[in-house]
Amino acid sequence: MTNRLFLTAAATVFAVAGLLGAAAPATPVGTKGAAGAGDPLLPLSGDGGLHVRHYALQLAYQPKTQHLDGSAVLSATATQDLSGFDLDLSGLDVHRVTVDGQVVAFDRAGPKLEITLDRPVTDGSDFTVAVDYGGTPHPVVDADGTSDGWTALPGDQGAFVAGEPQGAMTWFPCDGHPTDKSTYDVTVTVPQGYTAVSNGVLRTQHTAAGRSTFRWHESAPMAAYLATASVGRFDVREYWSRRLPVYTAVDPAEKADADGVLDQLPAVISWESSLFGPYPFDSAGAIVVHDKAIGYALETQTRPLYDEAPDLDTLVHETAHQWFGDSVTITQWKDIWLNEGFATYAEWMWDAAHGGASPHARLAQLYARPATDQLWSYPPGDPGQLARLFGVPSYARGAMALQELREAVGDQAFFGILKRWTAEHRYGHGTTAQFAALSASVSGKNLDPLFATWLYSAGKPTKM
Ligand code: TRP
Ligand code: ZN
Repeated sequence: MTNRLFLTAAATVFAVAGLLGAAAPATPVGTKGAAGAGDPLLPLSGDGGLHVRHYALQLAYQPKTQHLDGSAVLSATATQDLSGFDLDLSGLDVHRVTVDGQVVAFDRAGPKLEITLDRPVTDGSDFTVAVDYGGTPHPVVDADGTSDGWTALPGDQGAFVAGEPQGAMTWFPCDGHPTDKSTYDVTVTVPQGYTAVSNGVLRTQHTAAGRSTFRWHESAPMAAYLATASVGRFDVREYWSRRLPVYTAVDPAEKADADGVLDQLPAVISWESSLFGPYPFDSAGAIVVHDKAIGYALETQTRPLYDEAPDLDTLVHETAHQWFGDSVTITQWKDIWLNEGFATYAEWMWDAAHGGASPHARLAQLYARPATDQLWSYPPGDPGQLARLFGVPSYARGAMALQELREAVGDQAFFGILKRWTAEHRYGHGTTAQFAALSASVSGKNLDPLFATWLYSAGKPTKM
């Protein structure tokens, strides 16, 4: 109501100013930020008009009832004059929203929390959004039939929280597209006996009156899909690996299988650092739950999440994502091969360095698959549909493209490209076009035909 009156008044000012031939009025009116960051594969994900610099989330979770209570404080910066904006939020009840301390009007529409501002926010200015909310979180089901988001585990075991590609909105109001990266403070209160594990460093932990509170801090920018706050009756191990604090949380049912593999984490991190440049983050670790039904692991920043005890290849894969995906993040989901192709290629290199097949042999083996194989079902540089995001080509053909690149430019240029890629885009974003341009400039070669063939051509390329 107030807003409509305001707009009407503003329109009058415009009309009068127009008659007088004056420039725009001194008070900017602003328009509503776009609903969605403009990604063709997930049009509603993310929000136009703002950048979230920091999230402070305070959560309380009851594994028995699966009830989540939350307070989210978003420190944001306007990227246009704003009369309102949307946040991503799926399910859950919103009790109250304030902007800079003032209660504001809001609406719910699909996976959106729509906020209307009484007083517009001007382009470039900082503002604070606080949302009180709660309810029973449910994961979203994606086009490929898998689900992501806050996933309660059977019985009162706790929850597995993995948000790729759009599940962050199932547990906190967010700018959920990877184009926006933010730092995080995540505080979670759970019944005594449970541990809540998030990203980054555990600042404090205390138990009183039957409840335990865990305060986590992630100091490096993070895409919302990489945030987690998993809850379980974990077996926790904390140790230092050189200067890196390591925190692993493992469901006791997976401990026997997990411990031996997780013991290798420091070795995997230092081996990958030698290939990809310094480990990007100030902490490391793992979260291992006990629920094969989930069917995937996720490279949650600093502390990957596994649905069961990982094998060594999976550990190598999720650890490689810390460079490729987490530190250097995609700007459009169609670039997913920059995550999955690289993490798969890390597995190939690890295997080769430990007595397995060479990447060249793996390339040849895969290339021998018939043209009807799903390996050739879409070009990894342009999946075209959300349902294909995590299909075989994004992983295997993406890794094949990297081996083709390596053979075309030689080892020295190839490893130079990888290190410059992670250094130049550290804590930021990278696109396929930027990777192709960097590869061409480091190698001094025209690589357009190579990328056209391996990333963008439909079907099985006719020549390897
Ligand atoms: N990115 C995960 C990996 O390490 C896989 C993944 C995340 C996934 N979410 C998914 C796979 C949803 C299938 C469906 O490979
Ligand atoms: Zn992966």
